[in-house]
Parts: sequence; structure tokens; C-alpha cells
Amino acid sequence: MKLRSALFLAATLVRSQVISNETLDNATSPPKYPTPWIDGSGGWAEAYRKAQDFVSQLTLVEKVNISTGVGWEGEACVGNVGAVPRLGLHSLCLQDSPLGIRFADRVSAFTAGGTVAAAWDRGLWYQRGYDMGTEFRMKGVDVMLGPVVGPLGRMPAGGRNWEGFSPDPVLSGIAVAETIRGIQDTGVIACTKHFIANEQEHFRQGPEGRGYGYNITESLSSNLDDVTMHELYLWPFADAVRAGTGAIMCSYNQINNSYGCQNSYIQNYLLKGELGFQGFILSDWQAQHAGVSSTLAGLDMTMPGDTSFNTGLSYWGTNLTISMLNGTIPEWRLDDMVTRIMAAYYYVGRDTAHTPTNFNSWNKATYGYQHPFVGFNYGLINEHVDVREGHGARIRDAAARSTVLLKNVNGALPLTGKESFTAVFGNDAEDAPYGPNGCPNRGCRNGTLAMGWGSGTADFPYLVSPLTAIQNEVLKNYGIIVSVTDDYAYGEIIAEASQASVAIVFVNADSGEGFINYDGNEGDRRNLTLWGGGDALIQNVTAVCNNTIVVMHTVGPVLVNSFYENPNVTAILWAGLPGEQSGNAIADILYGRVNPGGKLPFTIGSSREDYQTDVMYEPNGLVPQQNFEEGVFIDYRAFDKADIEPVFEFGFGLSYTTFSYSGLNVQKHQVGPYTPTTGTTKAAPVLGNFSTDPSEYQFPENVTRVPLYIYPYLNSTDLEESYNHTDYGSPISDYIPEGATDGSPQPRVPAGGAPGGNPQLYDVLFTVTATITNNGTLTGEEIVQLYVSLGGPNDPRVVLRNFDRLSIGPGQSVTFSADLTRRDLSNWDTVSQNWVITDYPKTVHVGSSSRNLLLEDTLDLGGY
Ligand code: NOJ
Repeated sequence: MKLRSALFLAATLVRSQVISNETLDNATSPPKYPTPWIDGSGGWAEAYRKAQDFVSQLTLVEKVNISTGVGWEGEACVGNVGAVPRLGLHSLCLQDSPLGIRFADRVSAFTAGGTVAAAWDRGLWYQRGYDMGTEFRMKGVDVMLGPVVGPLGRMPAGGRNWEGFSPDPVLSGIAVAETIRGIQDTGVIACTKHFIANEQEHFRQGPEGRGYGYNITESLSSNLDDVTMHELYLWPFADAVRAGTGAIMCSYNQINNSYGCQNSYIQNYLLKGELGFQGFILSDWQAQHAGVSSTLAGLDMTMPGDTSFNTGLSYWGTNLTISMLNGTIPEWRLDDMVTRIMAAYYYVGRDTAHTPTNFNSWNKATYGYQHPFVGFNYGLINEHVDVREGHGARIRDAAARSTVLLKNVNGALPLTGKESFTAVFGNDAEDAPYGPNGCPNRGCRNGTLAMGWGSGTADFPYLVSPLTAIQNEVLKNYGIIVSVTDDYAYGEIIAEASQASVAIVFVNADSGEGFINYDGNEGDRRNLTLWGGGDALIQNVTAVCNNTIVVMHTVGPVLVNSFYENPNVTAILWAGLPGEQSGNAIADILYGRVNPGGKLPFTIGSSREDYQTDVMYEPNGLVPQQNFEEGVFIDYRAFDKADIEPVFEFGFGLSYTTFSYSGLNVQKHQVGPYTPTTGTTKAAPVLGNFSTDPSEYQFPENVTRVPLYIYPYLNSTDLEESYNHTDYGSPISDYIPEGATDGSPQPRVPAGGAPGGNPQLYDVLFTVTATITNNGTLTGEEIVQLYVSLGGPNDPRVVLRNFDRLSIGPGQSVTFSADLTRRDLSNWDTVSQNWVITDYPKTVHVGSSSRNLLLEDTLDLGGY
């Protein structure tokens, strides 16, 4: 075992330098032990106390039961852990997804994360989280498996980017924090995922990759340096922890050649040490690869509990019980695992908010098996509770307010509904031929696109297609509306388009999770072009119609070169993945009921090369190595650095009115200098004691054994005989990393001290104000953006640091006001392992996009 990585040593020598290819090669992850124990800081004191009281009453097997899943399809939810009936604790239910309840009926299909990011609206994000949380609570879910900030969006073709928010860490960080607050205010635990650097689908898991025919032995390793980790990928997780996320899911990939769920550096040091995370880490499904080493590296709950689906074996369960009995794992560690789980439970108020699970992921029928995979215990499994609570109206509003107007000439938009001849084109305009839920996990191209594919989905209760909504609009005036929804029926398309006074063309591009390959897209997109021959479709329409409006439903950036400058394309809208109210939302924008205010949460470039980072499609070794050579330079930061002109830049979006900016003012606050956290923690608490006599942990005679179900019990009084022989998972480990079992007081991390890191990082150093005026005749909403130039030779030209969405009446002016914190103005220093404000001169910019920085001032950093 290498003690310290060359990578991190190198990083200490040259701060913030973009790490060269050679430096990232053979990256390793330094060992960091022991796992920090929860301390109740940052508003967790009461939850911590209640959790300790509860855990103190538990037996050893009950503790193991709460930390171990029951096995894939073992119960009603995508994940369940063992119950403690003696104390009235039900089996905790964990359920996808980040945009609504997966595998359930009578639920809402919300706007995707990567789409609502375009709303740049804190209140909207909170409300969406609250509405989703309400539905999860009513169906009896304890842990919602979302939101997502990993992937962040390093590569535009990354298959699951749309589940998260934005490749900008600040936009993502604010969105994730508001979403978590909303979810958890309903009494449901949010699980922020996937931790960390989980940026592509190809090679995320060995077996999946081999299934596609790739010659790999292990998951891909994302290799990144310390600065990139802190200034980019860890940033939104810090916001999630600060917002109180109860759970975090570790990811499939390796980080610097150590698997996410057994990586002591990222779990023990970064997440629980530096970020002071108080909740629990749960594994992604089958992302646990070892028993003892994952326990000591900070994992608190294994999902779905079996080693791989339906083996009946577990790295934990029986094996965890044995590793406690033989002393491999110290008691304080198991106590901490369960205390963290129960603290999250009390923190969000699950003790008062709980509803028994009333749906079944594996069977929509009313009656079926309680243990579906093995067909065990027949009975009532689905009560068909409609949990939608009228959320459709807010989904419509969220989708409309997330729509980005990219082009609008000759007053093409808004439409009046009285156009003499409206023509609608594209498969993306129509109802899904197989029904909105026709393809399992939405893994095909099937009518209008309103969510991506994979586990990040929900069943639509309905899906309003754009064609339906536009038709309703036109028919209010008994107008003319025709449509051709076969993308390739060029003869019919030209015949109708040539008569149209306005043609609306719907195009799309999809992606999703790696377990589904649709049309050669193994999760990640093969390219950034429109699907269904979108470019040719637009070309055919514009050849005969000089008032063509293009609407794009895409998972992220697409190449628009072939049409965006075409004078016959009079308007372009990016509508993302709007969810169930797609058609109504786009009609609200097209017909001017909602004045578009969304702004791009990513850059649209003119080629995939412009992004300078890409998916690795072919493995470069048995253990694919993906070096994040670009450091912090992704999306607009990469375009700025290389001086590449984007087609539509990050933060860009038009309105039906116009705004002007004036009167920048910077107010400095009296805040003292930063003090690193010092001192030591308390010793790890031990809650109760247990007998080490194996005969007390045998499978109880009064319990019926469900086949393949994961239990905490022993199968023999001989520990050697009892353990599950898993690939790597012996609970009698002969290698215990140095310090891993040490429960004595530990030094506190200088950049730590509370959930989210050192509290002084969030001190407000400056407040920036400006006057924003609406120059038009319509009320509009303007997203005002605050960027900072940190000034160092290795810093991006500018970085987003704050924003606000302001509603402004015609002719009116309002004041934009936004704070800058110490963290906002700091760089990560690898030598002191802390944030520092460098001596480089710093400027602040207020503008309407990342490339339209209208107001500027310097910052006086003296005294900080
Ligand atoms: C794997 C996915 O990566 C994760 O996001 C999801 O929550 C689990 N499967 C459970 O479905």
C-alpha cells in the first residue's frame, strides 16, 4: 500500500497549476483513518442526542440490520434495510429518483434538474424539492435518492448530466442546497449523489462494461488533483452538507484509483472530516467491493445489500456481525454508522412524518409478493395512493420559467394564436406512440422528450405533448393547424411548411444511465448532434418557410451550427426536459403568457472539441484511467481560457423585453481574518455493549428465512464457517490500515469545523448592488449574474459566484443585491490544506451572461 500519492505531493509544490498528464498518471489516493464520528454540530445536536438514545438500546444484530440492505428486489423499494420491530423501527425505504418517484403509480413527473437549473431561481428549486418530498413521504419513502451534483457535467456528452444541475459548481451548489431544504422540510431524507467525480457512464462498473464487450477488469478511475477537487467537484457537495443533506451516495467509479465506497481519502478526510458531514454514506447499487475496508473507509450503509444482485451474499450482514465479534471492526465504528443513519432520520423528523410504504417497485398490481424476487409472502402490495396534490400547475410553471429563449428576430415571438396557418413538425412534438411510459426506464425515442433514461426517471401520470397544447391554442380561434410528426417525411413536411405563416419545429437529443444502450448510446451520447435527423428536418422546413421557430428538448448542449444563423429561423428555444407539463409550458412561452427568463446553465459551442473534455469511449487499459487534465477549466471556463467563441454562452438567455444595467456598488463588511479550525475531537462514543458469544447470534428459530434475503445472523457457531465467502469480503481481514480502529480524540481539520467546512468560509465579505431597468413594455424576469475574477495566473478568467432572478415591470428599475463570501474569494491551497485569499487583484463583474459582463469594480481585500 502506497502511503501517499505522488499526485498530492506534487500538488503541494505548485498550487493551482494545471496538472500535467504525467502527474495524473498512476494517481493514488492517500489513506486517511480513522473515520470521523458524528459530533452533532451545525444544528444536528438534538437529532444526534435522539439517535444516541435509540442506538444505545440496540443489540448487535439490530445495528447490523439497519446498516445492511435486504438484497435486490427483496422488499417494496429499490433499497430497503432491515427493520427493528422490537423498537418499532420499520425497514427504511430508499427510492429513486431526483425528478419524482420511480417505479410507482399516481405520482408526478417533475422537470429534470438540468432543466430547472436554467431557472436560476432559489424559490422555485426549494418548492420543487418540497413538492417532490411531499410525494415521497406520502408513498412511504424514507430516503429520496436525489438530488444529483455528480456528474457535475465535465463532458457535455455525459449520459446523466441532466439528472444534476449545471457544470458550474456555484449554480449547482445553490440549486442542490435549496432542493435538499425543500425535500427535508417534508420529513424525507435527501440523498445527494454520486460522490464523486462520477462523470461518465462508460466503464462506471466492470460487469456492465464487460457486458458491452469492453476489455476491462475494474471501474474507470477519475484522476484529479487537490485544487480541482476542492474548487470544482467538491464545492456543491459542501453546499449539500451545509444544507443538511441526511445521506450521500458514494459512486461506482474509482477516484485516483481507489473505489468511491472504500476510498478513505474522499469519505473519511474530505466528506466526514473537512466537510463535517453528519449524515450517512450509502453505497450506489453494487458499488461496494469489500467488507472490512469499506467499513473502515467510512461507508455507513450498503445498498442494495447483496454483493451483486440476488447472490444472497453480502459484504456486510452476517459478515459485519462476524467482524464485530472477532474484533476486526471496533464497536464505536458500527455505533457511528447506525447513529448517523438514525440522526438523519430524526434530523428531518421521520419519527413524526412516517407513512408505511404503500407501493411496490416491482409490480403495479394491487396484490403480489412482499418479497418480489423470490415470490414470497403474497398480499396487498400497492394501495395506489395518488400523491400528486395538484403539483402539475407548479411543474408547468417551473418548466416554462426554465425555458431559454436563444434567438428571436422580427418579433417572431410571442405568437398571438391568430396566425393564419400554423404548422408543427417533428416526432418530438407528438404523443408517444408507445404511451408516455412505453419504454422501460424511458430508454427509447418515443414521441416528445420530457426526461432522460435510466434510474433517474418516474412514470408519467400524463404527458402533455407540444402538439396537443399548440392545437388547443390555435383552436381557441378556430384557426388552422397541421402537423407532420414523422421526422423523415420530407415530401409531406415541405408541402405543409410552404403554406405556413409560422412553422414550429420540435427536435431533441437524449441520453441516460449506462445500463441501457439506445441506438448505440451506451448511456453517454455518441455525439452532440440532434436526433432523428433534426438538422435535415429544420433545413427542409426553412427551405420553404421564412418564419420557422425551433424548439429543442435536449439533455444538454447540442450543435446548432446548421441552423442558428439561418434568417428563416426566426426564433430558437431550449426547453430541456420539462416533465409532464411539457406542452402547456412551451405554449405558455410561445403565446406569451410567460415571458421567457431562463438562462443557459451550460455553454453551447460550435463543436464537441470546443469543450476540450470528452467522454472516454474506448478503455485505455484494463482499469480505464481518465485524467482530469483540464483541472477547473470545464464549460465556460474552458472556452474563456482558450478564447473560443461559443455559439450561446453560459448564462445567456433573451426575454420579450430588454434590460439595462447601471450603478454598481460594492459594500465591504467588517469581518476579521480567517482562523483555521484547531483542537481535537472528543473520543468516539461507544453505545452499549454486546456479547461475543457466537451462539447468541444464530438464526432465530421463530423467524422464517426468506430465500436470498440478507440477514445479520450467523449460520454456525464457528465464525470461519459462518462467513459469506465473497470475492474480496473476508470479515477476518489481515490488513487493517494504520489508525483505522483508533477511537481516541483526533485532530480537527483546519478547513473543517462544521457541516460545509470552516464556518468562516461563509462569512459575507462584500455585498454587491446594481440597478437593473426594464426598458420594454412588458413585465419580464432578468437573471442578474455576479462573476469574480480571482486574478491568479491559473485562475479562470471569471467564475460565477452569485445571481438573482428579478421580476421587473415595464419602465421600472429594481436593485440587484448579492453577497460574496470568503469562500467565494478564496482558492484552495494544497500546502496549508485550506482556503486562502490570494494577493492577486480581484475584480467583480455584474452582467447578463458569462460573456456580457456589463459592470465592473475592484475589490479591496485588506483586512481579510
Ligand atoms: C444506480 C444509480 O447510479 C443510482 O443513481 C440509483 O439511485 C441506484 N442505481 C438505484 O436505482
